[in-house]
Amino acid sequence: MESIGVGLIGTGFMGKCHALAWNAVRPIFGDVPEIRLVHLGEANAELAKRKARELGFEKASDDWRAVIADPEVDVVSLTTPNQLHPQMAIAALEAGKHLWCEKPMAPAFEEAEAMAAAARNSGKIAVLGYNYIQSPAIRHIRSLLAEETIGRINHLRIEMDEDFMADPDAPFFWKHAATSGYGALDDFAVHPLSLIHVLFGQVAKVMCDMSKPYADRRVDGRNRREVETYDIASALMHLENGVSGTLQVNRSAWGRKGRIALQIFGAKGSILFDQERFNEFQLYLSSGRPAEQGYRTILAGPAHAPYGNFVPAPGHGLGFNDLKTIECHELLARIASKPANLIGFDEGLEIERTVHSMARSFAEQRWIDVR
Ligand SMILES: NC(=O)c1ccc[n+]([C@@H]2O[C@H](COP(=O)([O-])OP(=O)(O)OC[C@H]3O[C@@H](n4cnc5c(N)ncnc54)[C@H](O)[C@@H]3O)[C@@H](O)[C@H]2O)c1
Repeated sequence: MESIGVGLIGTGFMGKCHALAWNAVRPIFGDVPEIRLVHLGEANAELAKRKARELGFEKASDDWRAVIADPEVDVVSLTTPNQLHPQMAIAALEAGKHLWCEKPMAPAFEEAEAMAAAARNSGKIAVLGYNYIQSPAIRHIRSLLAEETIGRINHLRIEMDEDFMADPDAPFFWKHAATSGYGALDDFAVHPLSLIHVLFGQVAKVMCDMSKPYADRRVDGRNRREVETYDIASALMHLENGVSGTLQVNRSAWGRKGRIALQIFGAKGSILFDQERFNEFQLYLSSGRPAEQGYRTILAGPAHAPYGNFVPAPGHGLGFNDLKTIECHELLARIASKPANLIGFDEGLEIERTVHSMARSFAEQRWIDVR
């Protein structure tokens, strides 16, 4: 394929990330086709036109179906709110387009199943926006685990916290409505679960608790609306490989800005990683003289692929949008039938299955087998 035509639906937080990634992937990596930014869709025509100008797309539309129907579009970036994913994703796949869809797949498990079936039937590439698995540090941690550098794994602990919902006076928006899903569980927990998926494999059983810090939020100067989603969730887990773990997520955690804290404990050492400082990780090895034991901080650099594609010097650091550019490069590799580090729709369905099992565990107040 000498060139590839891109359609983008939605231009909010993630839409801009996808557009930046599509603009950057060729200059950063080189080994990809020419990228043509063909058609952008937004909820209204004026916004669509402005965003097309800013982000470099040739055509703009207030009808997402026009983006999907465009014969010049080969791959669709889908970055709309969760509840719109099923209809748009299935339509894109049925139209014969490759698909890069933001996480989570859908609010309801049956919808996610329908999306995975549509992907299978289409024969097209369909992947999810699990950007944190692309971090060079996480990729290196994965190889350390494969080499058993810290021995047999005993336990893992993972937390994801942000404070964008911590202010009780912040207004109601789509993430507070039940139509978007359960709340922190499918908004946040899916990210730690994507890391668990690539580092350790499937979750076998779960026990989960959820809570709402604020019962209602303002919709305008006078009226308030009941919050229908849970901003906090905690789960005990057993993985299929026998490892036990805990997962805690909180969208109302003052002071936490983008924390995904992973602690992995093994028989010969431990590894710590935090997304807020994702250009480094800590390694503790139990070997050597006790008087000199301690965590070593390892700074990301060209030794941790694909860091060197962005910056030739170690310790200078990548940014969040770079993870999306790496994800975009992996997507293009998969489209070209090359090996790629991605979570496709069938693997994504396993993450959704875990999330829904956690929600069921909370509803029924008991351990749930994921399969
Ligand atoms: N991978 C990540 O790290 C990450 C981070 C944040 C959000 N997300 C996911 O990305 C998705 C979008 O979240 P966001 O934070 O970018 O939301 P957002 O509200 O910032 O953006 C959504 C965009 O979709 C547009 N839109 C709504 N209806 C539309 C329609 N019918 N046609 C075309 N455009 C429409 C909105 O106008 C808006 O510009 C969600 O699924 C979310 O879970 C992923």
